[in-house]
Amino acid sequence: MQKSPLQIARQAYQPKMPAALRGKVRLQEGERTQSVADCDAIQELFPNTYGMPVITMQPDSTGAASTAKPVNVGVILSGGQAPGGHNVISGLYDGLKALNPANRLYGFLGGPSGLIDGKYQELTGDIIDEYRNTGGFDIIGSGRTKLEETWQFDNGIEVCRRLGITAIVIIGGDDSNTNACVLAEYYRQKNAGIQVIGCPKTIDGDLKNSMIETSFGFDTACKVYSELIGNIQRDANSAKKYWHFIRLMGRSASHIALECALQSQPNICLISEEIEAKNMTLTDIVDNICDIVVARAEAGLNFGTVLIPEGLIEFIPAMRILIQELNDLLAANHEFTSLEGDDAKREYIKQKLSKTSCELYRALPKAIAQQLTMDRDPHGNVQVSLIETEKLLIEMVSKKLAKMKANGLYSGKFATQHHFFGYEGRCAIPSNFDADYCYSLGQTAVHLIAAGKTGYMTVIRNLTAPADQWLAGGVPITMMMNMERRNGRMKPVIQKALVDLNGKPFLYFAEHREEWADANTSYIYPGPIQYYGPSEVCDRPTKTLLLEHWNG
Ligand code: FBP
Repeated sequence: MQKSPLQIARQAYQPKMPAALRGKVRLQEGERTQSVADCDAIQELFPNTYGMPVITMQPDSTGAASTAKPVNVGVILSGGQAPGGHNVISGLYDGLKALNPANRLYGFLGGPSGLIDGKYQELTGDIIDEYRNTGGFDIIGSGRTKLEETWQFDNGIEVCRRLGITAIVIIGGDDSNTNACVLAEYYRQKNAGIQVIGCPKTIDGDLKNSMIETSFGFDTACKVYSELIGNIQRDANSAKKYWHFIRLMGRSASHIALECALQSQPNICLISEEIEAKNMTLTDIVDNICDIVVARAEAGLNFGTVLIPEGLIEFIPAMRILIQELNDLLAANHEFTSLEGDDAKREYIKQKLSKTSCELYRALPKAIAQQLTMDRDPHGNVQVSLIETEKLLIEMVSKKLAKMKANGLYSGKFATQHHFFGYEGRCAIPSNFDADYCYSLGQTAVHLIAAGKTGYMTVIRNLTAPADQWLAGGVPITMMMNMERRNGRMKPVIQKALVDLNGKPFLYFAEHREEWADANTSYIYPGPIQYYGPSEVCDRPTKTLLLEHWNG
């Protein structure tokens, strides 16, 4: 692999760790735990892993020699890439080797399917060294196969037995960690002798709760997007001729959009959770954007920035109903698929929709209406993330402004550019924060494994303090679970965290957004992630974390 000078320098970076993980470690157990909701149902489904205590890692001053006998551990990367995944693996590797040099680490290839199909690679020191502090998941690859079925779990037992693996670490988001918990319970119940430990990953930032302060990758991805937004804002403020509509990844929750807004102070940032709470329509959103465009134009500022969360469309109540009706209508609908031409399909749909949904469907730009009926996932659902909301909004705002102009209510210029930022940030070289956080997560997993724990997620807390004051531990995954309806059935799942409209990050944004929209441009230009230099520049966590921990 050919390397850039930065890559070469980063290979030598030694991630910072909580003080408690630096020497011998003792596990301190807290009280018996309960799930966040639906305790009886969760307990019934997880009789062997329910109620376990929260664990904190403490320095072990007894200095007792390690008695650990050699273990083989498997690791899986699950779902979308997130900066820092390689460091979880290097932390895991170093921790295992420190406990006993005879310990071995196997990587399952291509995500959870690697476990089921027995596709693996032993991760040796040479391989690990190539990937320290790098972005990406390419060391072993990732995948979105769901570990949900008994036959998959049984295949996993066979594969682990062949390799002498007695513990698996699953690095994934809420769904992958839910599945890790199901797997842990199954292996306990079967006495398979395989522990399962989860690790909180996703750039989306929606795997967080009272125990998990943030998922890894969110920090780096948001810093990359904020840099790009800042650059665009500086361009906008220089050329003074474009409104930039920027859609940001994040699937459903708006954490990424909110964090980027806090970092860059755009003129407008839409927060899906607020739009839903206020029961806003697409027209309301367009009207609000137009008000700001007009106000800025009156001050001679025919430019600006609008941040749009990827999941917006599903949070607009009327759109959600329309999407649901389309999902039901088009599921295995041969009559529809056999129709020739877009116009015939459009007419067919208009006849079948309810009156309100039909009106909304007709009001949508044709291209977007078509996207709603074309791009479907394997479950027959519209793939909302493929809908180009930035273009939808540009078109609707342009139309309204044209009308206003005709009526003498607007005299500005509205030239636009559209952007979608997602993949640009998912594999960036991890920030110091993510490099340190992930390495510590990997090391923590080793201590949970060494103590025979299963059904736990590794956690590092106190993340706004310097890394040596971070607190490492483990949280029973069942503690984060509740029952939710998924594909028509009630299932135990980890609660997904949406933006909390009463939380400090949103409240700060809500308090300041009018200033940011105003004629006085208050853009911030965050610049690129810095890896070397003063700590306040290089180790700074996200604004979301800082505000959440702020006691003001
Ligand atoms: P995870 O939840 O698996 O971490 O993935 C996050 C994400 O990047 C979302 O933000 C985005 O909507 C989705 O993955 C894109 O998926 P894909 O990589 O399959 O295009």
